Amino acid sequence: MRIGILGAGGMADALGTQWARAGHEVMISGRDAAVSASRAASMTAQADGAVVRAGGWAEAAEFGEVVMVAVRQAGLAGVLQAAGAALRGKPVIDVANAEGPFDPTRPIATMIRDLTGGHVVKAFNLCHVDVWRMTPPVFDGRPLAVPLCGDDPAALAAVRTLVTDLGCTPVDGGGLARATLLEATAAFMIGLWFGGADAQAVLPPISHSGVA
Ligand SMILES: NC(=O)c1ccc[n+]([C@@H]2O[C@H](COP(=O)([O-])OP(=O)(O)OC[C@H]3O[C@@H](n4cnc5c(N)ncnc54)[C@H](OP(=O)(O)O)[C@@H]3O)[C@@H](O)[C@H]2O)c1
Repeated sequence: MRIGILGAGGMADALGTQWARAGHEVMISGRDAAVSASRAASMTAQADGAVVRAGGWAEAAEFGEVVMVAVRQAGLAGVLQAAGAALRGKPVIDVANAEGPFDPTRPIATMIRDLTGGHVVKAFNLCHVDVWRMTPPVFDGRPLAVPLCGDDPAALAAVRTLVTDLGCTPVDGGGLARATLLEATAAFMIGLWFGGADAQAVLPPISHSGVA
C-alpha cells in the first residue's frame, strides 16, 4: 500500500524503513525539506532496493492510502492543519505519546480524529523507537504483540497488515475511545522504565490472569 508519513524523525525512519522493505511505497515529510530528503535517502539505502520518497506535509497526506502521524505533540495541530483535508476518510495511524505530564482529559487520538476526519487507529506507542527497528521484534521467542484501538474496520485491517509486516502480532484493543488507555499505559510504563523497574514484569502470564 502507499503509506504517507507526517514526520521525518525516529518513528518515521524506523517504521517507514520496515514497511518499505516489506514492499510498501513510503513517503515521509517534515519541517525542513533538506532534512527530510536526507532521511529518505538513508531509509532508501536500508530498504532492500525500495525507494523512500520525501515531500511536504500535504504531499505526504495526499500520497498515503494510509497515513501515519509521527510528529511531536507540540507540532501536531499545526502539521495536521498543513496536511489539509487529505486525511478525511483515510486510515490515520496515531503513534503519539504525551509529552510532559499525562492528561487523561486531553486524549491525543481523538484530537487527531477531530482535526482530520480520518479513521484513526492508535498503535505502536508502547515501545521505544529502537524496538521498531528490530527485524523482527521477538523477545524470549515471542513476537511482540501490538494493541490497536480504532473504530473503522477497514482502517483496522490495514494497520493489522502493517503490524504483521513487522513480524509482530496485532491485538484488538477496542474502539478509539479506549486509545486514551494506551496513552495512559505508555505514560505509566515509561515512568517505570525510567525509574529502573522492569515494566514487563508487572504483569503475570495469561495462565495466572484470572481468566478461566
Ligand atoms: N521515540 C520513541 O521511542 C517513540 C516511541 C513511541 C511513540 N513515539 C511518538 O512518536 C512521535 C514521533 O516521535 P519521534 O521519536 O519520531 O520524534 P522525532 O525523532 O523528534 O521526530 C518528530 C518529527 O516531528 C517533527 N517536529 C517536532 N516538533 C515539531 C513542531 N513543533 N512542528 C512540526 N514538526 C515538529 C520533527 O521535525 P524536525 O526534524 O524538524 O525536528 C520530526 O519530523 C511522537 O508523538 C512520540 O511521542 C515515539
